[in-house]
This record gives sequence, C-alpha cells and structure tokens, in this order.
Amino acid sequence: MCRNLSKYAPIFLLLALSGLIFLLRNIHTLENLNCHTVSTLYNLQSRINSAFTQEGTPPLYHNHTFCGRLGQEPSPEDALEERYLLDSIAWPEPPPHSAPTPLRQTSDPVHSLFAILPGKEGREWHVGDQLEALIQMHDFQGRPKRYGGDFLVARLHSPEFGAGVAGQVLDHRNGFYSALFPLLWVGSARVEITLVHSSEAVSVLRRLREERPDRVFFKSLFRSGFLSETTVCNMCLPPSQQPLCNYTDLHTGEPWYCYKPKMLSCDTRINHAKGGYQKHLITNKEALLFQSGVNIKVPIHASGPDRINVLPRKKGKSQLTPSGYYYEGSWRPLGGVIMRQFNESSAITQCLRGKVINMYGDSTIRQWFEYLNAFVPELKEFNLHSPKNVGPFMAVDSVHNILLKYRCHGPPIRFSTVTSNELRYISNELDGLPGGPDTVVALSIWAHFSTFPVEVYIRRLRHIRRALVRLLDRAPGTLVVIRSANFQALDQEVSLYNSDWYSQQLDGVLRAMFKGLDVLLVDAWEMTLAHHLPHALHPPPAIVKNMIDILLSYVCPEKKKS
Ligand SMILES: *[C@@H]1O[C@H](CO)[C@@H](O)[C@H](O)[C@H]1NC(C)=O
Ligand SMILES: *[C@@H]1O[C@H](CO)[C@@H](O)[C@H](O)[C@H]1NC(C)=O
Ligand SMILES: *[C@@H]1O[C@H](CO)[C@@H](O)[C@H](O)[C@H]1NC(C)=O
Repeated sequence: MCRNLSKYAPIFLLLALSGLIFLLRNIHTLENLNCHTVSTLYNLQSRINSAFTQEGTPPLYHNHTFCGRLGQEPSPEDALEERYLLDSIAWPEPPPHSAPTPLRQTSDPVHSLFAILPGKEGREWHVGDQLEALIQMHDFQGRPKRYGGDFLVARLHSPEFGAGVAGQVLDHRNGFYSALFPLLWVGSARVEITLVHSSEAVSVLRRLREERPDRVFFKSLFRSGFLSETTVCNMCLPPSQQPLCNYTDLHTGEPWYCYKPKMLSCDTRINHAKGGYQKHLITNKEALLFQSGVNIKVPIHASGPDRINVLPRKKGKSQLTPSGYYYEGSWRPLGGVIMRQFNESSAITQCLRGKVINMYGDSTIRQWFEYLNAFVPELKEFNLHSPKNVGPFMAVDSVHNILLKYRCHGPPIRFSTVTSNELRYISNELDGLPGGPDTVVALSIWAHFSTFPVEVYIRRLRHIRRALVRLLDRAPGTLVVIRSANFQALDQEVSLYNSDWYSQQLDGVLRAMFKGLDVLLVDAWEMTLAHHLPHALHPPPAIVKNMIDILLSYVCPEKKKS
C-alpha cells in the first residue's frame, strides 16, 4: 500500500504544485486587472467591500476648518505668521450677490481694452524707464466692470531679440488695472495682457479650495499574505464615517490618513498612489466661467498701439525689480548672480566636480535631474529599480566624484505608485543630510498642494524652513536653491484642480516663507511668464536649460576679475 502510494507521490506533488501555481497566477492576473479589490481569497472569503469599491464617491465635506487645521495646533507665533502670510496673498473678492453672477455680467477679455500711457517724456521711452499700460475690464455686454479681482498677467516682449520680461499687475479694484514694465533693452517692444480668469471664476476656485480638498483623492494598497485591499487616503478624511489608519508623521506632525482596510491592519500599507479626480464640482452656470478661448487665458486687445520703441538709456531707473528677463533667448538675472552659460557638458562636469546634488520635490524638479542626466554623458544613472517618473533616482560620475539624486516629496503627491517606505517628507530628509560646502540642495514643492487650503502648504513649508535653518546652522557652506511654481496650460478641467491662480497663491507664500533665509531662488514663475513658448506644467527644454544655467551659476559663480 505504502509502496504503491509512494509511486504516485511525485504525481501528487506535481498536481498540488500546479494547483498552487494556477491559484497564484490568478491572483496575480486579478491584481493587474483590477486595482479595487484585489485578492481572490479576499473575494471568496468575504463579501465585504473595501472603501474603495465605492469609487467616485469618496466622502465629501465642506468644512475648511477641519482640513486646514488638521494636525498639531499651531503655536501663537505660527498662528501669527500664518495670518500674515494669508494677508499677504489676499485676493479681492467680488461684491456679494444674492444669486450667482450671470455670465453676461462677468469679465470678458474681448470687450476689455488696454492702452499704453504716455511716459514722463510723452511717447519717448529709454532703457531704464518704466512703462505703464492701463487696462479697463468690461463684461460680455460691453459694460465697464466696477470691481477688481480678475487674474491678469502681463508681458513685454520683442520676438526679434528673443527678449521678454514679466510685468507687474496692480488691481485698482474698480475695474481698472495697471501693468508696469521695466524697460531693459533697446528697440521695438510689444505689450501683451492676458486674462487668465475672471474675478467671478476666481471666486469659484477659491470656494473649491476651501470646501473641496477631497477633489483629488489618493489610495493605498494594503497587503499581507494572500490578502490585499485598497482604500482611499487623504490629508483629511471625515473621522466619523469609518475607522481610519493614522499615518501622521511622528517627526513633523504632518497628517495623513487612509480608511482602515476591513481585513488587514494599518501596518500592512504597501504603497501610495493618486486615486483620482472628483467630477461634477461646479454647476452648469459656473462652468460658463471656465471656457477655453472665451475666458481662460485670452489676450486683451489694445485700444491704440500695443508697441513702443525703446531708445538707449538716458538716466532713468525703474523702481520695478523683476528677477530677470530674457535676451537672445537667455535668462539674465537682475541682482545677485552673474549668469553663466553651460552649453558644453564638460563645463557642467567641471562645475559639479566633487559635489553631491540632492533634489527633492515634484516633477518640476525631477526635470532638472532628467536634464543633467541626459545632457552630461559622464553622469551614469544608477539603476535603483525605481518606477518610471517616480524615483528615487540617482546618477553618478565616479571619475569626477559627482552624485546627483532625486526624491519626491511626501504626501500629498499625485504620482503613480510610490512604495510606502519611499514616502518621505523633505524636512525629514534634510535632517538626515550632513551638508557642507560640497552639498547642493534643490527643492521644488508646489504643484500637488493646489487642491488644499493654503494653511496646509504654509505648514509644510514651515517644516522645510525649520529643517533648512538647522542644516545651514550645522553646515553653513551648504548651497540651497528653491525653484518656484510655474505657469501651466489651462482648460476647464485643469483649472479646477491646478489653476495658475492656485499656483500664484502658493508662490506668494513660498517667497515670503523663505525671505531672509540664506537660500537662492530660481524664479520659474517669471521665467515661464516672460518666455514666448506656451505655458506647460513641465516647461520646455529651452526654459529648463536656463534654469539649470542659473543653478550652476549659483554653484560655480563667475570668478571675479581682479
Ligand atoms: C468643522 O470642523 C471643526 C473641527 O472638526 C468643527 O469644530 C466645526 O464645528 C466644523 N464646522 C462645521 C460648519 O461643520
Ligand atoms: C493621529 O496621530 C497623531 C500623532 O500621534 C495625533 O496627534 C492625532 O490626533 C491622530 N489623529 C486622530 C484623528 O486620531
Ligand atoms: C551658449 O549658446 C548660446 C546660444 O547658442 C550662445 O549665444 C552663447 O554665446 C553660448 N555661450 C557660451 C559660453 O558658449
């Protein structure tokens, strides 16, 4: 009997193995097929649905205080600073209406006009003077607007010289706006004024920011053995609905939550990913305020000439202080650094010899990593088996002792799958850096915060600033470069989640937050506004090259001629 059975043992073993392989393969296929409920065993053993199976309807809430105030109570000084920062980016609100303003009474770029005002010497301008254009907004019926709050941007440019500079827009809060430009080069220059959003559209964006921080949501996969579940995550989830997993960072107190999986413990979180975008955020009436070609990024025409001729400098000195301007396609910073151009990869290698460059943040600084990695052949990317576009990434030139690293910032981050262990807050990473004269830190953190109340961004930057203060204190030679937000292409959908208006607000906070600290700014905001290429979330190589030139000019300043 025993002998008989033992004869068949290999066959039984084979059968058992193939069954197991079949089961495993099915589990695997299902995981790939469907990211909601994942494991077959889980499906068989329980009919309980995870929170994520109600996809598209994660809970809503309309409570600003809850999300903005989540986490630690700010100290009195922090609360005071927050008040100051919020005041510094205050945006005029349209007068209260009982009903939503009908489209015909909202700002219409086609009916609006601007005029170049005469200068001190009439219609004669010199380099060093300041140019003013007066803008008057009208509604779709051609009636003048009587209140401010429109989001306008201005640019002065000369395509024939590859020249451009961002203008400064002042809101007179009565339907009139001034655009001010420094005159920085000789020759013909053209004024360009663009309505990004009407004031009425800005009100809608503002309301979404305060009331719908859930409009981008996130998810995490939990797994242990054969069990796996996916649930919805966010910075703020209403606590009353279902049990939560609390992933609040113990070091910074930065809050993060997921709904607790039904079967698994909170310790089994495997990854983090973008969940999706909530739809139906605005009414049909409000949607009329966000029409491409009608009232999103539409130019305003001049009532007379839109060009002036700029003569060589006489004596004037403009009070305006843009951070730079383009000339012959190259960015020329004003004040501070002397711009060097790094056209040859050997010049970059020479500059970065012996340095460790740490880049942290969103995809707009990952572009810097990608640019250097692609442009400098000596830099070899080390394969960390990281997911594409997510990282972390590392490139090494062992001959010149150069190490280049990129890591994304902590949640909220709308990347495709980031493993939980790679989710790090920038401030914690900075605390782990020894720093020193051979260390460069480059940061960019803004694009993933536009769906949250500004308080969330203020808190995040405050943690980063504290870590930078500690870093610069223990290692004074460390070079810290911060890249600001940039303009991007907008349509209705993008506007509701990522409008330039949100970026503009965050950018205001960023500049104020790091003012007075020994850190250097790459002004992506002005660099994308002043350039002739269309706005894009990821600026084109021509602009990235200029940003890298600034970065490297900071790292390797031009030797002073003695
Ligand atoms: C918003 O949330 C806070 C904190 O949970 C709570 O104290 C407050 O009553 C809520 N407000 C509204 C209008 O629900
Ligand atoms: C989450 O954990 C943090 C830190 O332990 C704590 O301060 C916070 O109150 C917790 N949140 C909730 C909703 O329990
Ligand atoms: C770099 O290239 C630009 C554009 O081709 C050129 O104008 C500039 O003179 C070059 N600079 C150096 C230092 O080679």
